[in-house]
Amino acid sequence: MEKFIIEGGNSLNGTVEISGAKNAALPVLIATILAPGVHTIRNVPNLRDTRTTKKLLEIIGAKVTFENNIMQIDTTNCDNPVAPYDLVKTMRASFYVLGPLLGRYGTATVSLPGGCAWGPRPVDIHLSAMEALGAKVDLASGNIVATVDKLVGTEFEMRFPSVGATGNMLMAAVLAEGTTIIKNAAKEPEISCLVDFLNETGAKISGKGTAELTIEGVNELHPVDFSIIPDRIEAGTFLIAAAITQGEITLKNVEPDHLGKVLEILEQVGAEIQIRQNEIRLKQENRPKSINAVAEVYPGFPTDLQPQLIALLSVAKGNSRVIDTVYNDRFKHVPELVRLGAKIAMDDNMAVISGVKQLAGGPVMCPDIRAGAALVLAALVAEGTSVVDRIYHIDRGYENFEENLTNLGGTIRRSD
Ligand code: EPU
Repeated sequence: MEKFIIEGGNSLNGTVEISGAKNAALPVLIATILAPGVHTIRNVPNLRDTRTTKKLLEIIGAKVTFENNIMQIDTTNCDNPVAPYDLVKTMRASFYVLGPLLGRYGTATVSLPGGCAWGPRPVDIHLSAMEALGAKVDLASGNIVATVDKLVGTEFEMRFPSVGATGNMLMAAVLAEGTTIIKNAAKEPEISCLVDFLNETGAKISGKGTAELTIEGVNELHPVDFSIIPDRIEAGTFLIAAAITQGEITLKNVEPDHLGKVLEILEQVGAEIQIRQNEIRLKQENRPKSINAVAEVYPGFPTDLQPQLIALLSVAKGNSRVIDTVYNDRFKHVPELVRLGAKIAMDDNMAVISGVKQLAGGPVMCPDIRAGAALVLAALVAEGTSVVDRIYHIDRGYENFEENLTNLGGTIRRSD
């Protein structure tokens, strides 16, 4: 298994080009199933998860090429409406095929995702959304088997504004008969990116970026040339990398509007931030200040940056508290950070962090993508050598992570 060997202590300075957003790319790539023909999707990050999505599309019957961050997908013949366990177990987002397959073929067999690294992560909202559109949903041999003659528009209120269930329902509803209204829908920029993609293919969706999405069903969609939005989580990770090492960084190809709360929190921590069109510059001159923060649905502080924020606050002056309201149990990074000398106590879904002046390097293990990124950031500021194991998690979500960190002045190398 590959590991990162990291020598801590250098401040990170320089420029990073931000990639396309993983969590916007995955549903858009899958949504191409809805519109038969050849799509060109640009700014697709070259990650384990996008390569897994390519495999999934190929199993379903699409012809796919992936070069220079451009995925070309021919969805003319997608006649195997199946997402097998082997793929779903490595990437839960495979579950996104449920809506488009039901929309185009009226049938889908999708392996039921198990728990994830930090908890159960149920899919009940996805399933009740499909049922609300008229599908019959059964469980057979670990697979969700959904069938319908024709999906029919409906009004559906999400009990929680789930990103995945909103995306799945949108993709199912675009080819349904009549109008669908999704209430308490997710407002994340990745969902707005999916709405833009679907509307370009000929769908009729209004309410983008709000909690109420209205979808007027259409008979058919056509292929398009589309570009994925920048990755706000990759951007936030590099901003925190500069803040934790008291460096100065410029991010290029970012969408500052998607990072409002993140920039606000980093300013509270003491960072100086400048924004210019698609660029963000951050400079952190002193030890971070302690703060209290809550990870919430968008436009709140993202749960996908909660582990990196906890790493940052572990070296802050004073005591901080971080609550996660999206995933109550996403704290697998905490015991690993404690191995590096962080002082963190858990109280339910709240981490209570007593900042220490200096972390000390050591061996740690990545429990998942963002927790892994947080451990790398902690190792970059810790004194001495750290070995960060199980970095295949990080490879799911960060393109050229160690190259980017090396260019910024970090000492990090990959080893078997
Ligand atoms: N939930 C349910 N039932 C459902 C669906 C969700 O109870 O049917 C709960 C979840 O357990 C969780 C909350 O609702 O407590 C939010 O989950 P959501 O469905 O919004 O998350 P997701 O769609 O499974 C996406 C991202 C995650 C990110 C979350 C929250 C993708 C592929 N994944 O997951 O990204 O943390 O939204 O913003 O878009 C990551 O990139 O590291 C990652 C985990």
